[in-house]
Amino acid sequence: MSAAPTTPTPGLTLGSVRVATPVVLAPMAGITNAAYRRLCLESMRAQGGDGLFVCEMITSRGLVERDETTLKMLVFDELETVRSVQLYGTDPAYVAKATEILCAEYGVGHIDLNFGCPVPKVTRKGGGGALPWKRGLLGEILEQSVAAAAPYDVPVTMKTRKGIDEDHLTYLDAGRIAQEAGCAAIALHGRTVAQAYSGEADWDAIADLVAHVDLPVLGNGDIWEASDALRMVERTGVAGVVVGRGCLGRPWLFRDLAAAFAGEQVATLPTLGEVSAMMRRHAELLCEHMGEERGCKEFRKHVSWYLKGFAAGGELRRSLALVESLVGLDRMLEELDPDEPFPTQALGTPRGRQGSPRARVVLPEGWLDDADGSGSSVHEDAAELSGG
Ligand SMILES: Cc1cc2nc3c(=O)[nH]c(=O)nc-3n(C[C@H](O)[C@H](O)[C@H](O)COP(=O)(O)O)c2cc1C
Repeated sequence: MSAAPTTPTPGLTLGSVRVATPVVLAPMAGITNAAYRRLCLESMRAQGGDGLFVCEMITSRGLVERDETTLKMLVFDELETVRSVQLYGTDPAYVAKATEILCAEYGVGHIDLNFGCPVPKVTRKGGGGALPWKRGLLGEILEQSVAAAAPYDVPVTMKTRKGIDEDHLTYLDAGRIAQEAGCAAIALHGRTVAQAYSGEADWDAIADLVAHVDLPVLGNGDIWEASDALRMVERTGVAGVVVGRGCLGRPWLFRDLAAAFAGEQVATLPTLGEVSAMMRRHAELLCEHMGEERGCKEFRKHVSWYLKGFAAGGELRRSLALVESLVGLDRMLEELDPDEPFPTQALGTPRGRQGSPRARVVLPEGWLDDADGSGSSVHEDAAELSGG
């Protein structure tokens, strides 16, 4: 871990919302449900910090049409002081209505709009990371969402990527449009849609955006350790950082982040026994929020992240990845060696999605011919769940 700041960093202010630590848990579909958000929040508060913990993405149309799957995702934990939700949408009217529902019926205190999703199924229709190409349409969506949230004093932010590909960059325009629309911040993942999760995030682009706009910029991409977060702030001047894959199987990263931004140096290196206690807590929270059967199923995907680099045997890993009950989980966790030290070689290395760049981003026909799109409509799918 390199240099911690000598003075504590100020917190993060997004309109009416203020948190002590300038850190946002990135929305991650299938991951950042109420249980996981609470786990990260507990870790951060244990160190005296507090951040924003964004719910997995839900679709505007799904919410407006009261789609059952969408509503099931709108669950919050009692410890969440600011309910933060990411909305996906391509139609200004749906996004505005969904914004209003979130504020009026769900007590949501922060709304983030997704304009970064690289999934072909989404970009094929002009949604996610493809949408900012239509500057006019982007402006309409942002303005209408901001207007719908205003009576509730709820800040609206947008999250985007650099652009469709290196020849079709959109982030600087998006920053200006977000500012003009009255957004409280813009989060930039320093990759293009074409890059998906490959290569390295371009922090210079994040710095360019900071220089280009007069609203808070949140930097995103490749923060694996707390020291990376400090480096990003120092190098780019962002108001805060958005952390995604770095906390997969390592919710204690939020403790390190709280410490780092408070000017202290903490680099948590839990033994396998401590990791196992964290796994148990995670599974327990999932079961509390979803019931034991679904909670255990949801927990399975996290096992390999928690055990990354540890010597746990293949057979035990396989059983853990099929866990069905908390009692079963306890039995399996007992087989782990509690004294095994943290595998430091796993520090600072990518986890979660990586993959390769796309040769071509799938877009609607003729999408690139018009860079405005005001008044146009893009088909919005109520069941779009794939995220970013
Ligand atoms: C499993 C997974 C699901 C994701 N889902 C979303 C999503 O729903 N909305 C979104 O804006 N980004 C989503 N993302 C992207 C992350 O929010 C983040 O922008 C990206 O992972 C880069 O940050 P990182 O390097 O800190 O992981 C997802 C990423 C992963 C790995």
